[in-house]
Amino acid sequence: MGKGQELYKKAKTLIPGGTMLLSKRPEMFLPDNWPSYFSRAKGCKVWDLDNTEYIDVSIMGIGTNTLGYGNNEVDAAVIETVRKGNMSTFNCPEEVLLSEKLVEMHPWADMVRLARTGGEANAIGIRIARAASGRDKVAFCGYHGWHDWYLSANLGDGQNLAGHLLPGLDPAGVPQNLQGSAIPFNYNNFQELLSIVEEHNIGVIKMEVSRNMGPQDNFLQKVRKLSTDKNIVLIFDECTSGFRQTFGGLHKIYDVVPDMALFGKALGNGYAITAVIGKREVMEAAQKTFISSTFWTERIGPTAALATLKEMERLKSWDVISKTGNQIKDKWRKLAERHNIELETWGLPALAGFTIKSKNSLAYKTLITQEMLKKGFIAGNSIYVCTEHTDEIIDRYFEALEPIFFQIQQCEKGNTEDILKLLEGPVCHAGFKRLN
Ligand SMILES: Cc1ncc(COP(=O)(O)O)c(C=O)c1O
Repeated sequence: MGKGQELYKKAKTLIPGGTMLLSKRPEMFLPDNWPSYFSRAKGCKVWDLDNTEYIDVSIMGIGTNTLGYGNNEVDAAVIETVRKGNMSTFNCPEEVLLSEKLVEMHPWADMVRLARTGGEANAIGIRIARAASGRDKVAFCGYHGWHDWYLSANLGDGQNLAGHLLPGLDPAGVPQNLQGSAIPFNYNNFQELLSIVEEHNIGVIKMEVSRNMGPQDNFLQKVRKLSTDKNIVLIFDECTSGFRQTFGGLHKIYDVVPDMALFGKALGNGYAITAVIGKREVMEAAQKTFISSTFWTERIGPTAALATLKEMERLKSWDVISKTGNQIKDKWRKLAERHNIELETWGLPALAGFTIKSKNSLAYKTLITQEMLKKGFIAGNSIYVCTEHTDEIIDRYFEALEPIFFQIQQCEKGNTEDILKLLEGPVCHAGFKRLN
């Protein structure tokens, strides 16, 4: 057992759930055999506690580092801030500069509030939108974090959030009387949203612009018109989609503007910074309520974001990562074809993923992670692309993956032993489960 597994055993006795983020639980990758902790990270490489080096072709910090880990320019700006001082009784000028930059990038928006996590940005967005519309009820689609307003959707019916990224989320501890305050709708199902709006007194519509599939039949335009007609505040949660395909929100490519948009993840290239941007008439409602927090004033977050945006603009990183992501998707499809494996690709190009269409799909994903780890790759069935994923890295990744696809083909054909016998530990988890 490596040092990482040892530490994770201790973690489970100290930290309920083992980690702070569900998606970084070792059980989500390779139960009992995952290195779990890092000592160093640079570019797209990560070193574990035993100093073994891996190439990260998986979730890259769960989408935080489109410029790679430890980007020189961003880190230099942060180090300078540490040197000059991160906190004081005065505010940091970078919060104004970053707000100005985000508004400049999104001309429909006038005002900004900054936070440090995506869930917080979502909670702020909901509070402001409820205050602005004067109505409580929210219709939503997609994943928006862990806060009460969102998890309340699973009160009464624990499956309401199942179609929205994370199945199995238990709303224990969320007040029962929030039941019915957040109502989910399915992406691209305009009729469903329309009937929710007609049946309930909806004040806010919140959605991801696109996650695993694109909008069809002018879906976004219809949602925009409905929101305008009914005086509903429309919020696009771009925490994950932002900066992947455009310089800013994904909504820019669909020519639809929301009333508010939320950014997170990639904005600070690994440093904690998130943003809520919006139209003046909506954002001013923040003054009617109380939204305030100590660490929203620290300086590293906005400093990192300003440096990240500068570097993204210089590299046109959204084009680079989208091109790489499209190549990867194409190579997965070709690899599957060569091995007669039924495979489906999904996701934005820079958040590319695949599913092997088989009853053993999750076991195959575990096999891929297990075998790729032995070859020095952190890999599963999705890649959050960064600018450090060069052609050479991607070629090495596919070279390593090819024989594992052959193994999967043999399993699918029934030519080899049971897939479960090839696994050195349990099958990975999908979604939320209570740990033993
Ligand atoms: C669209 C979206 N919104 C909100 C969040 C929550 O962000 P955080 O984990 O930083 O709280 C996520 C995280 O995956 C997300 O994808």
